[in-house]
Amino acid sequence: MQVKTVVLMAGVLLSGAALAGGDPATGEKMVKEHACAGCHQRLIGGDGSALYTRSDRKVTSKEKLTAQVSFCSTQLKTGWFPEDEEHVVAWLNHRYYHFK
Ligand code: HEC
Repeated sequence: MQVKTVVLMAGVLLSGAALAGGDPATGEKMVKEHACAGCHQRLIGGDGSALYTRSDRKVTSKEKLTAQVSFCSTQLKTGWFPEDEEHVVAWLNHRYYHFK
């Protein structure tokens, strides 16, 4: 088993019921540092966050949120690993989506 997997599993165990080990505060910082909103602002205006809250938003589950973050992260060439993306998923879920 790879070290990375062990660390990830430990994180999941420690955080218990929390979102698969993601830390919202870390995720918020990552989203700001990587200017995710820049692209979303061009799409929808304002500060870009309306993309997450519009009534016809695309993301309708935790799984879709994870997939979308991964897709956008790749577009932006962030170089994030899936376990990094978990933080961003945790932040967006905490702030906007509120999936169980
Ligand atoms: C290259 C432009 C671009 C960048 C940069 C970008 N996004 Fe996106 N994002 C999009 C597009 C396009 C959509 C889909 C909009 C649609 O289909 O209506 C989207 C949608 C989303 C959604 C789903 C919104 C919904 O409908 O519920 C999430 C979540 C999201 N992006 C997260 C991120 C995160 C996190 C980052 C920073 C890593 C990021 N995006 C950076 C273009 C971008």
